[in-house]
Amino acid sequence: MNTRIRKMTFDDLAGITEIEEEIFSVPWSKQMFEQEIKNHYAFVIINEENNDLIGYVCGWKILDEFTITNIGIARAFQKKGYGRSLVRFIINALIKEKCFKFFLEVRSSNIPAIRLYETFGFKSAGIRKNYYQHPPEDAIMMKLDFFSLLKKDNKKKGQERCFHHTPVDNKVIKGKYSC
Ligand SMILES: CC(C)(COP(=O)(O)OP(=O)(O)OC[C@H]1O[C@@H](n2cnc3c(N)ncnc32)[C@H](O)[C@@H]1OP(=O)(O)O)[C@@H](O)C(=O)NCCC(=O)NCCS
Repeated sequence: MNTRIRKMTFDDLAGITEIEEEIFSVPWSKQMFEQEIKNHYAFVIINEENNDLIGYVCGWKILDEFTITNIGIARAFQKKGYGRSLVRFIINALIKEKCFKFFLEVRSSNIPAIRLYETFGFKSAGIRKNYYQHPPEDAIMMKLDFFSLLKKDNKKKGQERCFHHTPVDNKVIKGKYSC
């Protein structure tokens, strides 16, 4: 089995929009992904297995903050660790670029995604009332701050997390750019 994670390209757009339409009630359009590929501040990453597209993650880096704007794994490949590997990849890549604060919004009923983010140390940072449509729903804002995690880890030595920490190791438009 040959799995790899790489940058999204225009050639991926058809496959990505197919997955997006399969898994979201309000999917991003092909043009939205296209804009992200062109956007200087955006990170757009996909994973594939034996050249089959499995999933993607998108986000914006503004200074030392990163907002995950979209993440999706094709339904047939969910619950196999691909979502976790994409989140781990993007966080590690951003930490290397000295980005230590991560943000996202998630539907309050989206337990799989919330659990996934929690395994990385994301915590709820507030609620945006009626943020989503189809169906209408609140968003939970989640935040991961590596500086505070590292401080806590120094106090609680030996506690294992999803990451092997090394010291070096928002714009969100309502309803449009949010997962
Ligand atoms: C959310 C999503 C990206 C997770 O990706 P995935 O590849 O299925 O998840 P993984 O197999 O990597 O699971 C990692 C962890 O996430 C959590 N998780 C994933 N699916 C779960 C489920 N159905 N129920 C509860 N927890 C779940 C678990 O903590 C899991 O760890 P574990 O396997 O040790 O229990 C995927 O379900 C998806 O694409 N959903 C539809 C789109 C979406 O909701 N995107 C997020 C928008 S904010």
